[in-house]
Order: sequence, then structure tokens, then C-alpha cells
Amino acid sequence: MSESGIWTDAHQEWFIQTLGLENVRVALPDRKVYARDYTEDLEFLPDIVLLPDSVEDVSAILSYCNQHHIPVTPRGAGTGLSGGCLPVFGGVGLSMERFNRILNVDTSSLQATVEPGVINQVFRDHVEAIDLFYPPDPASRGSCFLGGNVAHNSGGPKAVKYGVTRDYILNLEVVLADGSVIWTGADTLKYSTGYNLTQLMIGSEGTLGVVTKIVVRLLAKPKADLLMLAQFDDAVQACEAVADIMKSGITPSAMELMEQSGVHIACDHLQLANPTIHNAEALLLIELDGKALDDLYPDAESIYAMLENHRVLEVQLADTAEQKDRWWRIRKSIGEVVKAKSVYKEEDTVVKRAELPRLMTGVKEIGRKYGFESVCYGHAGDGNLHVNILKNDMSDEEWNGPHLESGIRELFRLCKELGGTISGEHGIGYVQRKYMTEVLSEKQLDLMRLIKKSFDPNGILNPGKIF
Ligand code: LAC
Ligand code: ZN
Repeated sequence: MSESGIWTDAHQEWFIQTLGLENVRVALPDRKVYARDYTEDLEFLPDIVLLPDSVEDVSAILSYCNQHHIPVTPRGAGTGLSGGCLPVFGGVGLSMERFNRILNVDTSSLQATVEPGVINQVFRDHVEAIDLFYPPDPASRGSCFLGGNVAHNSGGPKAVKYGVTRDYILNLEVVLADGSVIWTGADTLKYSTGYNLTQLMIGSEGTLGVVTKIVVRLLAKPKADLLMLAQFDDAVQACEAVADIMKSGITPSAMELMEQSGVHIACDHLQLANPTIHNAEALLLIELDGKALDDLYPDAESIYAMLENHRVLEVQLADTAEQKDRWWRIRKSIGEVVKAKSVYKEEDTVVKRAELPRLMTGVKEIGRKYGFESVCYGHAGDGNLHVNILKNDMSDEEWNGPHLESGIRELFRLCKELGGTISGEHGIGYVQRKYMTEVLSEKQLDLMRLIKKSFDPNGILNPGKIF
């Protein structure tokens, strides 16, 4: 049995002996579960799936694989959108699902130590119950793991006010390719002690080491929030309003854009009442948070005036928790429900915030030129626009062919022109590798390759990713 050509029965036997049969999966249906993530319709089978539950196990696995040059692909919950956890060369699929303990919440220093297999939502609920707050909130927060968030430096709607995963990670326990175990820094809010290995590890997509413990910082939980839904007949006007609001000095806790097509698909799929009025082209979901509702209303009024300057058609304020929840469900489900309509490529474009109107216009122009339909949505307040390119009735040849690839390259060149890059929060993984040269020079890529080589000389950790 070998998917990769490097696999032998002796390897399998060693893993069973070392980890116990209950922590090893070799049957085809079991391995298939670990062969996919949320990226397009890609599938790569691991030769074996391992489910360690201690740092000693992870260390033993890596040390063995390093000696035998076996590829190891670490995996969180499999909700990634760039194919980062797909074992493209077979070998070991290393599932971190058993590392699911919240080890400690330090309410004096406002920080916590967690394992990488803790679900984002489970953790946020845990700390919110004691009035603390962990802001990074990817759309998949109900199922994604904190370890995956670290691997990709995940963002989410709250990033516009609170920042992304890397702004909350203080220290990491990491198993290196040779099996040695290190802490990357200190459990402190400041760190000026040589190279910052913690930050290097964040966003490295499992190519430099396997994270086994995460120390995060926490905030006090905001006590009040309000949510507005603004509708525009012109998506470019919606994007311009976003830059104006931020310039005014008000920082919403979320400012999310949705093209009406995304809202329609989401409402149909979830069978929810559709809030879109008939001539709306784009909707902005704007959330304010703070200590008390009374502090938020004056800001909401100022925002309303700015939206009017951009020909807003209608602004609604959610009056109930149920309505807030419904609007958020629509927004957060778009990425997933578009899949029910068509296979799609998810481009995670990001530009300087004030350039978002030009990006929005450019996406549609490029789509017309290359013949693709797109559904755009995302974190407008961060200049981060998700562009879902739909396969619809394209043949597989067209879908994987040079014409569409040229269109995507043109889109990424536009991002670069607008001060941006090819991924804001989903990572490079497997599917965006070929586009790295659009935004990084050979010199920059060489530096990254050298870093990779010094951490993982045999190239066993998540090979076939990023480069
Ligand atoms: C979202 C994911 C796809 O923002 O990043 O919905
Ligand atoms: Zn997103």
C-alpha cells in the first residue's frame, strides 16, 4: 500500500507499535476523511493518518519521519481554503484533533494556554463565560481549530478593530522536524529578545514545525454592540463609504461587504428571509461595540450620515439578538454556500483599504474579459475582498487551463498595483503557490526557502506548500 511510493509496511508497523492501533488509521475510508479540506474539490490521500495526543508522541513521529524522509502534513479541522492540510505527497497525515484541551486561563494576566485542536468557538465561549474576549473570529469559527488559525494567521470580521491571530499569540510550544521541542518566546506582552520565532511560526502553514501549545492574550469582553445593515445600488460606493468611516476616527468592530448575489445564495440555502431590497447591488454589515449601548448610538448616527454621502438606499439597525444572528449567519455562510451553487476558486485578495473601490471595479472588469462570474464578499474594513470565481459550466480543461490562470494573474497584479497581495488571511497552501512570483521577488522567495531549510533540512514538513 503506497500513495507516495515511499511507504512500506515496516513504517506502518512502527507507528502502530509506537502510538497504539487506536491512534492510527490505515483503512481507505478512514484515510479519505483526511484527504480533503474546504478547498475547491481537491483530494490527496495520506498513506497513514496518525492521531497523537501528547507532545512526546508528536516528537517521536517527527523524529522517525525525519530519519526516513517521510512527508508529514499537519492538519487541524480541515476548514482551510488554500489546501494547506492536503497531503499532496502522501506520507503521514498528522491530525491534531486530540490536542483539544484548554490548559489554563490566567485571569490575572489576561492570557490562556491552549492546545492547537481546541475549536475557536469553544475557546471563545469558555473565556466569554468569565467576561474575557478572544477576538480572532474566522467565519469557520464553529469548527476551525486554534492551531489552524495560527498556521494561517487567520483573521475574520473583528480584525478591522482588533487585529488578526498574530496579534494575540504570545508564545508557542513547537516540535521541530528532528523531533526536538522548543518554546518560541516568552509569555509576555512585549518581546525584544532576538529574532521573533513566535511570529515566524505564525502563518508558516505547518512547514516549519508542529505547534503543540499556544499561549494567547485576552481582552475584557465588550459589554454592548449594535449592528447596522446598509444597502447600496453601487458596490463601489459601498467600498468608498468604508474608507470614509475609518478616516472619521470611528473604528467599527466589523465592516463587512456582501454582493447581493452572495446574500441571495445564502438566504436560499439557509431558508432565511432575504433582507436585500430589489435594486441593491451590495450590502455593508457594520458592527459597533463598546462598554455601553448609549456610547454607540452617536457613532451610529455619524456613520449613517457618511453612508448617505454615498447614496445608501436603506440602513437598518438590528433590533433583536435574533436579527443580528440572522444577518451574521448570512454573512458567515456565504463562503460555504456558494459551493452548493458551483465549485469555486476562492481568491483572498487584499489591498490598501482606500483602494478597495478600484479592486472591486477591477475584479468585475477582469471577470468580463476572461469570462468568469464572481461572488465578492469579505472584510471591507481591512481592504480584504474574497473573490469566489465560479466554475459554473466551465469544462475541467477550462477550469484548470491557462486562460483562467491568466485572469487570476491579472487580478493579483492589480492587487500588487494597489499596494496589496494575493492572500490576506487564507494562506498560500497548495493552490496559490504558483502565484507567489506575482508579488514576491526571487530574492524574497530565496530568503523564505533558506528559513525553511534551516528548520527542516530534509523537507519533510508539509512539502509542496507555499513554494
Ligand atoms: C469568510 C472566510 C471565507 O470571511 O474567510 O467568510
Ligand atoms: Zn474571510
